[in-house]
Amino acid sequence: MNPAQPKTPPAAAAATQYTWAGRFSEPMSELVKRYTASVGFDQRMWRQDIRGSLAHARMLARQQIISAADLADIERGMAQVAAEIERGEFEWSLDLEDVHLNIEKRLTSLVGDAGKRLHTGRSRNDQVATDIRLYLRDAIDDILLLLREFQNNLLDLAEREAATPMPGFTHLQVAQPITFGHHLLAWFEMTRRDAERFVDVRRRTNRLPLGAAALAGTTYPIDREYVAAQLDFDGVCENSLDAVSDRDFAIEFCAASALLMMHFSRMSEELVLWMNPRFAFVKIADRFCTGSSIMPQKKNPDVAELARGKTGRVYGHLTALLTLMKGQPLAYNKDNQEDKEPLFDAVDTVSDTLRIYAEMISGISSRPDNMRDALRQGFATATDLADYLTRKGLPFRDAHEAVGLAVRRAEELGVDLPQLSLAELKTFSPLIDEDIFAVLTVEGSLSSRNHLGGTSPEQVRAAVARARSRQPGA
Ligand code: ARG
Repeated sequence: MNPAQPKTPPAAAAATQYTWAGRFSEPMSELVKRYTASVGFDQRMWRQDIRGSLAHARMLARQQIISAADLADIERGMAQVAAEIERGEFEWSLDLEDVHLNIEKRLTSLVGDAGKRLHTGRSRNDQVATDIRLYLRDAIDDILLLLREFQNNLLDLAEREAATPMPGFTHLQVAQPITFGHHLLAWFEMTRRDAERFVDVRRRTNRLPLGAAALAGTTYPIDREYVAAQLDFDGVCENSLDAVSDRDFAIEFCAASALLMMHFSRMSEELVLWMNPRFAFVKIADRFCTGSSIMPQKKNPDVAELARGKTGRVYGHLTALLTLMKGQPLAYNKDNQEDKEPLFDAVDTVSDTLRIYAEMISGISSRPDNMRDALRQGFATATDLADYLTRKGLPFRDAHEAVGLAVRRAEELGVDLPQLSLAELKTFSPLIDEDIFAVLTVEGSLSSRNHLGGTSPEQVRAAVARARSRQPGA
């Protein structure tokens, strides 16, 4: 047999359903088909895939690579494909491997040759890279909106709690009085940096890979800038090999997501502690708590615990993508198909966590009496007494020691510092006078920390006002 002789391969009938089956002589095994297909998960990018294809087709027509009639057919066919998918009538086929081939095949069955011309000057390699970037850009925009909603509700709560005294902790031991509003604003700052990171990731994500084709560009007179402008990209990826191969933007997204989840995990841990009856610092609306199937008295902070738990999977996705990338030679490798599930799950986890937290934060209220009891038991104004003595001329280290003795005495008597008599207090330092009692109150302690970044109610209200006037990510 002469191998150069053109002939129909024996299994051509079975293999023709594959767009690329021309050079193959036997059909793919079922197992390989399942192993290599991505349509089960990448169909979620169908909107981006159609949007990218339409921009590509318009460019092809504008450059006279395809005819205006072909473009019209493609536009009409794609509108129908989109409608079918939207209505849940589209039949996704494993035989067609991925979202790209499924849509292209259906388009071709609807409009014939024009559908077959769509892929001119394009490869699935630059197509998929474009789709993911479009998808991620949209996801980041949604996340930024959710983050802003969470922050707005958080700021409302912080304003309501601007003057509520609670213990601030170090080493989880009562340290000094703070306002609950101030504590909540620490959460705000954490998420503000998260928003900045997402804005930054979006900037690098928002570049167009299309035009890179498989890896080396294309022989057609394409206009990449025109496609970029149509898709609202800020510019094009400037090297065709890099355009189809790197997924660093997805890795960055997972890194920003991991940091965000780390912050929400810390908040969650605090909510879990504060819900515990030993603290009993906050109430969370019942709709965010669950009961126990065996212990009727229980009210569990499940949402917070799950957010803390889900942080682990996002860390996992970051590690997965870093590892996915590290051994790949240029340019595209099929390994990259594995970028999607971790990325999608990171998007879902972050979005759901933000959505639920945005609501839950409005359902939180303080229990001021319990916060005040904890302050009292913890001698939270001890530093204020030391500062008072220092202002009167005692070196701080000596003041620290005198107050330590006073705390020990108060502990023996089972009272808080302001409950010691003036005569008793004077035994620790003759510098102590009647004016000490204003200093030792929680309100006195709070209002005296009145500087930028401080905990006084006045500063909390000012910080809330500043925060409200800023744009997310700015
Ligand atoms: N489904 C593939 C992916 O997600 C599309 C690109 C496939 N390209 C190829 N030459 N096999 O990466």
